[in-house]
Amino acid sequence: MQGTFYVVGVGPGDPGLMTLKAARILEKCDVWFAPSAFEHGESMALNIVSGEVSQKGKKILTHHFPMKPVHRDKEPDPEVNGAWQKAAKIIVDCLKAGSDVAFPTLGDPAIYSTGFYVWETLQKSGADIKVKIIPGVSAIGATSAAAELPLCLGDERLIVIPATFENGQMREVLAHSDTVVFMKVHKVMDKLVKLLDELGLVDNAVLVERTSLGDQKIWKNIRDTVGKDIHYFSTLLVRKQ
Ligand SMILES: C[S@@+](CC[C@H](N)C(=O)[O-])C[C@H]1O[C@@H](n2cnc3c(N)ncnc32)[C@H](O)[C@@H]1O
Repeated sequence: MQGTFYVVGVGPGDPGLMTLKAARILEKCDVWFAPSAFEHGESMALNIVSGEVSQKGKKILTHHFPMKPVHRDKEPDPEVNGAWQKAAKIIVDCLKAGSDVAFPTLGDPAIYSTGFYVWETLQKSGADIKVKIIPGVSAIGATSAAAELPLCLGDERLIVIPATFENGQMREVLAHSDTVVFMKVHKVMDKLVKLLDELGLVDNAVLVERTSLGDQKIWKNIRDTVGKDIHYFSTLLVRKQ
């Protein structure tokens, strides 16, 4: 019988934030197909899982997905698309051979996750396969918890956005929401501090680096981040109230 493909959200880093359901699915799957951001590099998602579920008897396949921007209104970069296609083919082969395959992904699969791109590639391929998405704790919620700041209360509006200065959206977003969550901020913190300062919002911002991990760092004064090497696992919360 053909196996099932599971995209499993494994939380933001602390294995204790992985759900019981995620752990059970990973335990039952014989193949773990783990994404890695760097060629021959380690998989953060796999590291999180390994803190909670034994790898014994599992076939572990690590697959490199290049970290290049994806614009939903444009064709994906050929290298990125190639990685999705290759992943989809390997997964389909495993499923056809009767294995259940788990794709552990950082945080929640619904938020900027490679897991959903692979899911989409499988859908478009027309392959007749069973797929299940298992939600996880996103870095968004974990950052809010670490900063002890709610995301939205009452009738407030929340916007989540990758911190890209490419299309000039950030000012507009800041003007039209009560809370903004900026992800992928690590390379643009200096620019973000400047923009927020200009808008009088710099004191409403908190940056959390490596949320939920042992070396988590909370920057309550984001001016202190200027000129610093900020980790890729960093999320910035701007709350107007
Ligand atoms: C490709 S997105 C993945 C988001 C993930 N699917 C989620 O639900 O959290 C990567 C971005 O998530 C955020 N992120 C992931 N893990 C984090 C952590 N432990 N602490 C802070 N931010 C994190 C950062 O903004 C990072 O640039």
